[in-house]
Amino acid sequence: MERILEPELMDDPKQAEAYARADFEEENQGFVERFKEYFPEFSQGTILDLGCGPGDIPIRFAKLYPACQVIGVDASAPMIQLGEQAVKDSGLADRIMLRCERYEDIPGARIADAVISNSLLHHLPNPLQFWQKIRQLVRPGAPVLVMDLLRPDSPEVAQAIVNQYAASEPDILRRDFYNSLLAAFSEDEIGSQLARMNLTRLLIDVPDDRHWVVGGIIY
Ligand SMILES: C[S@@+](CC[C@H](N)C(=O)[O-])C[C@H]1O[C@@H](n2cnc3c(N)ncnc32)[C@H](O)[C@@H]1O
Repeated sequence: MERILEPELMDDPKQAEAYARADFEEENQGFVERFKEYFPEFSQGTILDLGCGPGDIPIRFAKLYPACQVIGVDASAPMIQLGEQAVKDSGLADRIMLRCERYEDIPGARIADAVISNSLLHHLPNPLQFWQKIRQLVRPGAPVLVMDLLRPDSPEVAQAIVNQYAASEPDILRRDFYNSLLAAFSEDEIGSQLARMNLTRLLIDVPDDRHWVVGGIIY
């Protein structure tokens, strides 16, 4: 099945609200724990989260790493608004900064001690620009962890995955999940993106039937 792009930004307030309310505990905490497992020596500095959505992952990182500050960037104003409230409620506003900005427009180079991103890449028309930007933003020796959905072989398999994992979620979330699966990349496509960007030090893992993870150190 060919990739079918979905709208890039999640800037419909109802869509952002449904996403913020959904229970991503297992996926998001799994992402944080995987980072810790991959990079046991990492403990301080600035963590940059690309496409941070409603802030759940920045909050989890700030809790786990008390000597870090987290900058989350998302170009959806409703997502950032929800994120700002969540950060305030978490009591971690002194170490988490969320910015409404396209990741492509983040200024500067070598500004991050770690870069993380969950579920952004499938929204993007130009995946190579994403890997290029990560390369620009990290300091040498910085850990990078990127996770996203894996495109299934057919629309029928995508629908079966939605039915299996989001059976009782609201329609808007099920619709977005389905469209995201169709817009996602395959493991081979991610491999060739990394090869083209000369990022083969980053390793790909496929931990379950619907995700891929790329992690490693960029020098
Ligand atoms: C599926 S959500 C993931 C949110 C969060 N990372 C999480 O795992 O909960 C993807 C987010 O990427 C944002 N996004 C899409 N294109 C973007 C871009 N070019 N720059 C910044 N954010 C973008 C969307 O607005 C959306 O909030």
